[in-house]
Amino acid sequence: MSDTNSLFEPFNIGTITLKNRVGVAPMTRITATENGFVTEKMLNYYRSFAEGGFGLIITEGTYIDDKYSQTYDYQPGIAFDEQAQEWKKIVDAVHSAGSTIFMQLQHSGPLSQGNRFTDGTVAPSAVQPKGEQLKFYLGEGPFRLPREITKEEIADVKNSFVEAAKRAKSIGFDGIELHGANGYLLDAFLTEYTNHRKDEYGGTPENRVRLLIETIQEVRKAVGENFTIGIRISQSKVVDYTYKWSGKEQDAQIIFGTLGNTGLDYIHITEFEAWKPAFETGKDSLVALAKEYSQLSIIANGHLEKPERASELINNGHADIVTLGKGALANHDWVKRVQKEEPLEEFDPEKVLRPTAVIKNFEL
Ligand SMILES: Cc1cc2nc3c(=O)[nH]c(=O)nc-3n(C[C@H](O)[C@H](O)[C@H](O)COP(=O)(O)O)c2cc1C
Repeated sequence: MSDTNSLFEPFNIGTITLKNRVGVAPMTRITATENGFVTEKMLNYYRSFAEGGFGLIITEGTYIDDKYSQTYDYQPGIAFDEQAQEWKKIVDAVHSAGSTIFMQLQHSGPLSQGNRFTDGTVAPSAVQPKGEQLKFYLGEGPFRLPREITKEEIADVKNSFVEAAKRAKSIGFDGIELHGANGYLLDAFLTEYTNHRKDEYGGTPENRVRLLIETIQEVRKAVGENFTIGIRISQSKVVDYTYKWSGKEQDAQIIFGTLGNTGLDYIHITEFEAWKPAFETGKDSLVALAKEYSQLSIIANGHLEKPERASELINNGHADIVTLGKGALANHDWVKRVQKEEPLEEFDPEKVLRPTAVIKNFEL
């Protein structure tokens, strides 16, 4: 058996059996309608990965309510039953093509740059986000200064995640992934410099991970045992690529140890290069630390488009599944190509990202 064969073995995650260990990473494409309904373009996009052999597809970050969760204009939502019903077409198409699909549920928190429901943004604390809005997603200039979210609104956020998860389950998604990465609301709670709260949601790492834990527990209670729930975790943010947890391995132990005891099925780790040491003080990757401290199924992401690199993380027991972002965009049939030992296309943003939509005379 060659080393890369492990990528093509089945794997049980939660209550679902994946036909192989290679997934598509969640990728925002802003190709929904203005009202957050899925489009034909999205249907074709997701179906083509299923036809290309991927065992798991995780959808783009999808907003969960009509309050502060929407992040980008033309982002799809699952805030209403009507939106959910349209998603069913994509779920059915992916299933018909023999794959599995999880929905990524997103609350923007401080990094919203397009929300048709409200003007302001909320965050754990009123801290100005670093950097500028992402031009690629139709943003311009600095982010808005967020307002500190109240306790009542925190309860609303948890409820929005719960209702969205129930909608996703009801129309046939195989699981949901909470977006706990990249600087959006849940990660803003986890991150020291965006969370200055004095209540039980701020201060120690145990307090900063509390909202993530409570959300997972409430979602689990609502959807029952028979539905796969995961969370995505990163150190870096879309506006701060090099950020590292200040407590290093100790933070990893607390965060992953706590997440490991909440009824989660998996943690999806994203790092720039998933196999590299997470901190300069040690040799373990964040993927390995997540496995060690949570003992859950681990999905690894970050420049794993080379099959040998991807399979190494599975062969050494640090990850159970890998996901590809840019590698999948360049090769919707990555799995079939690798199985047939055919060459892979390099990711070229000009070729792969620009033709997806023409919105407001702006080509993506
Ligand atoms: C166009 C694009 C959109 C993305 N949107 C999301 C998203 O909605 N949710 C998320 O968690 N990550 C998002 N990401 C990050 C990817 O999931 C992934 O972590 C990143 O591309 C690194 O993986 P790669 O090296 O395989 O590309 C996006 C990345 C790209 C390129």
